[in-house]
Amino acid sequence: MDLYDVVHRRRDVRAQFTGAPVPEETLHRVLSAAHAAPSVGYSQPWDFVVVRDAELRRRFHEHVHTERDTFAATLDGEAAERFARIKIDGVLESTLSVVVTHDQARGGPAVLGRHAIADTGLYSTCLAIQNLWLAATAEGLGVGWVSFYREPWLAELLGIPDGIRPVAWLCLGPVTHFESVPDLARHGWRQKRPLAEAIHHDRWTAPTH
Ligand SMILES: Cc1cc2nc3c(=O)[nH]c(=O)nc-3n(C[C@H](O)[C@H](O)[C@H](O)COP(=O)(O)O)c2cc1C
Repeated sequence: MDLYDVVHRRRDVRAQFTGAPVPEETLHRVLSAAHAAPSVGYSQPWDFVVVRDAELRRRFHEHVHTERDTFAATLDGEAAERFARIKIDGVLESTLSVVVTHDQARGGPAVLGRHAIADTGLYSTCLAIQNLWLAATAEGLGVGWVSFYREPWLAELLGIPDGIRPVAWLCLGPVTHFESVPDLARHGWRQKRPLAEAIHHDRWTAPTH
């Protein structure tokens, strides 16, 4: 697959995990792609916690579903009905999970390029996540980003020290297939925005409608 195929084939996967094993060499290739990401001041502020333990995953899954209920309680009418039909995680069905963390203190105190924009640290960790996601897709593995959790709760579950933020819980593993349309679009939650609306020339232009 060339890069553009991988970019367009990548999907957020929830329902298609098979639970089949992921060879260690494959996981290593995927994590080294993540670790090759660019980072502000070359700070490399990420870490990867590979979670295989069934009890940890069960407890996380339970927490996610409490948070799902919290979000569902903010919806009514058609949105509530739509959301009820949407699967938001494959924590139990996927082969393993990778929790990506962010350490804002790494490489400090003088992180080159971060003095004016503190968030560039977090951007760097997100780029590692995107590299992981694309590498997994190239390997034929699905990834599902789960963000229905409270950071302190997850930090406590995995023994993540103070000051280090869990940025993503990523479900990972072989899949039956990749859907061609994002789940949220298929369920009518939200549709793809035309590229032309996202491109501006020289100055910001307001949408015409
Ligand atoms: C920061 C972030 C958090 C996300 N959290 C969740 C989540 O908790 N549950 C979920 O089902 N999908 C989650 N997603 C996946 C998005 O819903 C998905 O990327 C989007 O609908 C587009 O679909 P696609 O990734 O298949 O193109 C998350 C994605 C991002 C980037």
